[in-house]
Amino acid sequence: MTANEIRSKYIDFFRKRKHKEILPAPIVPPEDPTTLFTSSGMQQLVPFLKGEPHPMGKRLVDSQPCFRAEDIDEIGDNRHTTFFEMLGNWSLGDYFKIRQLKWFFEFLTDKDKGIGLQPDRLYVTVFSGDENHKVIKKNGEMPALGPDVESINIWRELLNFNPNIPVPDGEEGFDPKVKIYTYSAKENWWSRAGVPEDMPPGEIGGPDSEVFYDLGAELGIHEKSPFKNQPCHLNCDCGRFLEIGNSVFMQYEKQKGSYFKELPKKNVDFGGGLERIAAASQNKQDIFQTDLFTPVIKAIEQASDKKYEGKFKVSMRVIADHLRAATFMIAQGIEPSNKIQGYVVRRLLRRAAVKMHTLKGGLTPVPGFQGICYEVIRQYGGVYFEIAKAREVVGRVLVQEMDKFAKSLDRGLKVIEKQPPEKIDARFAFDLFQTYGFPFEITQELVALRGKTIEKAEFDRAFKKHQQLSRKASAGMFKGGLADQSEATIKLHTATHLIHQSLRKVLGSHVRQEGSNITAERLRFDFSHPKALTDAEIKKVENLINQKIKENLPVHKTIEDKDEALKSGALAFFKETYPDKVSVYTIGKNPKTNWFSKELCGGPHLKSTGEIGSIKITKQQSIGTGIRRIYAILDSRK
Ligand code: ALA
Repeated sequence: MTANEIRSKYIDFFRKRKHKEILPAPIVPPEDPTTLFTSSGMQQLVPFLKGEPHPMGKRLVDSQPCFRAEDIDEIGDNRHTTFFEMLGNWSLGDYFKIRQLKWFFEFLTDKDKGIGLQPDRLYVTVFSGDENHKVIKKNGEMPALGPDVESINIWRELLNFNPNIPVPDGEEGFDPKVKIYTYSAKENWWSRAGVPEDMPPGEIGGPDSEVFYDLGAELGIHEKSPFKNQPCHLNCDCGRFLEIGNSVFMQYEKQKGSYFKELPKKNVDFGGGLERIAAASQNKQDIFQTDLFTPVIKAIEQASDKKYEGKFKVSMRVIADHLRAATFMIAQGIEPSNKIQGYVVRRLLRRAAVKMHTLKGGLTPVPGFQGICYEVIRQYGGVYFEIAKAREVVGRVLVQEMDKFAKSLDRGLKVIEKQPPEKIDARFAFDLFQTYGFPFEITQELVALRGKTIEKAEFDRAFKKHQQLSRKASAGMFKGGLADQSEATIKLHTATHLIHQSLRKVLGSHVRQEGSNITAERLRFDFSHPKALTDAEIKKVENLINQKIKENLPVHKTIEDKDEALKSGALAFFKETYPDKVSVYTIGKNPKTNWFSKELCGGPHLKSTGEIGSIKITKQQSIGTGIRRIYAILDSRK
């Protein structure tokens, strides 16, 4: 069955069961400071899952294009992508576990009503419970989050699984005779922020049940994988089992600490990746061989003059994924830039360009992306955007961006030429990557021209370190958050909050932020104040900031009602319009009673002020009547 047929069949299946089809959200959700991209179908439904009545009713269905930036490093295997289509159905306080699991199973296995997968290739997982998190019940009881026995029993019946065989812990290994496994919250709990302990108060989530399709031991995937010496299990990374659907029983709202409150109603939030369901239906070992990808892969084969086989597969998968994502975003109006989402588009195009260079060999900056991107437009145009317009804008952007990339390559080349040979090392390669978006593979080829080699492992170490820091920093944002903010930028971002408050303490509460701009090198902060600061005032501000850094105050993030946050004294940037629910960063020993700074902000920030090190104010100037500008840097001498 073609992917288009699967999508229509799914929507029809649920429409026949009284679901209304809703329009998918744009790939960049409007007015949502907590997230950069639409990364799941439920995202536009959060208020309704929390209890607000939806204008279309209690049963909804759609197909949602999604983007998950945090998956970018996993691309290259048989099933991960940053961009994908998620088939989704929802019950907003209507049906619950029995109907959801029964219907999804019917859709998967019925030859007429659904897509007719072989039931003996299906395996399922359910939530094993979490002793550390409690539910505050209306009657005052506080039980721990228990195992999902109800779903186990429903699956036993649907899968005809012998009631005398116990349901084992999934991590303990796989037995083809056992159809149902339990996993902890890491695998079988879903919220936008991940496991219960990572959820901020106010975020919703619940236990889930996933269905896996066995691509087949006979395909030898596990044997070929780096995991071959470990017991294979459903969530094994080897790629044998493909997760094709996730039914989330969305029924809890996180409270402070390790507590949950029950939502007004029990909901179902189902999501299944169309690409993966197509792979199961079309009996393909990887999603890149389904009809959703084959025209794109073919165009990549033509552009690179290589075949989709052997060692070329990984590069081609990266190119296919990144160009699908970039085309989609550009067609929906996000052009490459240095701003957050635009920067992601730029990175996707550059990463794809590099892979194309490595595929073709050499550095000719002619990746031939147009034909590939037009395939993507042909596929999705008319549904998610207009074809003619998309061709025009994508065509134009590709020319501009690839030209810019070629220039950046040139600049990098000059830097490499100037660098003394003894200083060409992994650190240097990483700096090039950071500053010019200069990918390791290219640096490696270029330094080879100077007779130098750089070990990939060393570069990876530098990269990992950076990644861990930026992960830590972007943990405040939900999945979909950007992993590209440099360590220095985040330090300066947190410092900006300290500066804002310090200026208010030293100069007076008339000081309001008028603007700011932060790079890895310096921060710039504009604020209202009628005259130049004296040297003594500057010193005072600087000392106060550095004192707050020394106190190593924790940085807390909460999601709050906008009005309440403002009432409690949080600063907001008046030029910005905020939604009703906002994320708030509070710096201080206690976010309620003892804080230094509190601001509405999307993050990311450090975990505590001590990580900043030290700050130095380097310059001040006037930028208009009553508006001052100061610059500050991280003071490396301390
Ligand atoms: N919202 C759930 C997911 O993204 C269905 O997996």
